[in-house]
Amino acid sequence: MIMDNKISRRSALKRMGAAVISGAAVASGLFPLASCSDSKSKRIIFYFTGTGNCLYIARQLAGENTELLSIPQLVKQGKYEFEADEIGVVYPIYGHMPPNMVREFIKKVRLKAGYKFAVLTYGARKCDAVEIWDRISRNAGNSFDYINTIIMVDNWLPNFDMNEQIKIDKHIPENLQKITADINSQRHWHQPVTEEERQMHQGFMRLSGLDPEVGFLMESEKFFAVTDACIDCGICTYVCPRGNYELTSTGVKMAGDCEFCFACIQNCPQHAIQFRRQKEGIFPNGTEKNPNARYRNEHISLMDIKLANNQKL
Ligand SMILES: Cc1cc2nc3c(=O)[nH]c(=O)nc-3n(C[C@H](O)[C@H](O)[C@H](O)COP(=O)(O)O)c2cc1C
Ligand code: SF4
Ligand code: SF4
Repeated sequence: MIMDNKISRRSALKRMGAAVISGAAVASGLFPLASCSDSKSKRIIFYFTGTGNCLYIARQLAGENTELLSIPQLVKQGKYEFEADEIGVVYPIYGHMPPNMVREFIKKVRLKAGYKFAVLTYGARKCDAVEIWDRISRNAGNSFDYINTIIMVDNWLPNFDMNEQIKIDKHIPENLQKITADINSQRHWHQPVTEEERQMHQGFMRLSGLDPEVGFLMESEKFFAVTDACIDCGICTYVCPRGNYELTSTGVKMAGDCEFCFACIQNCPQHAIQFRRQKEGIFPNGTEKNPNARYRNEHISLMDIKLANNQKL
């Protein structure tokens, strides 16, 4: 892909496949200015986000000459070739693994860059996420010079109450400052992983029954249900990175392979999308800590999530 030195708002939005909502994109500040290792070097940051943590981190790591690119938009557009001085990826860990779409993207994409970095966001337990990404990206021929993690609000609804999570100080600014300094100085480093963390991940895989080659790839209709509280506002149809929701004459219909990102559940204004109870032995079992508490990163707007994930426009 040919890179421009400067990208206009119009071309940036075109690249995101969302020109019609340009006013809101500008208002949401898609392209912030921050320090970059070298003001002339071009940086591309790919991101995947369900509730905004990764978009927030990606924005904070963006310099003057940075393109922020949403992986679901690139997949929709079939774009798999990129060249820049520095290329980064920011994604949330799901069971310590990358989201399925990120995994498939890194397998297909051809990246040309002098320096590659990855920042993985998580909420409670990262285990060997760094090694997992190193393995997957290396096997895909896209090895990364720098891989680090950053702890954020944990949006895993089965175990965490979002109202409690937002009260916890996870030292995000301090951690982000260190990561920014590392990346701006093109540090070559992978955050170390302990044997205990590897064992914890193995234990999780045994309990969850997830396929390590796939990670979280569920059937949305099997795990979620839309209740009568739905007001047909259509938000779920825009925030799903898989385009699983449709507004029909008989209400909202949902079906399809699901990243389990929770963008739909967390952003529904009516709390009308709920987990379905599962038979014994199925993971996750359909219970959640607080069905009335929902989360989106405080710096990220609903429009930002729509722009990042929308598969409909
Ligand atoms: C399906 C799923 C699985 C998750 N698994 C983990 C995990 O294994 N360890 C962890 O610490 N956080 C886990 N989380 C929490 C997210 O990684 C974390 O909240 C992340 O910052 C969310 O990023 P986002 O707001 O960009 O979507 C999980 C969240 C989801 C939705
Ligand atoms: S976001 Fe919620 S209320 Fe809006 S259409 Fe979807 S399920 Fe219904
Ligand atoms: S159905 Fe919901 S959880 Fe699944 S990919 Fe779409 S937005 Fe994410």
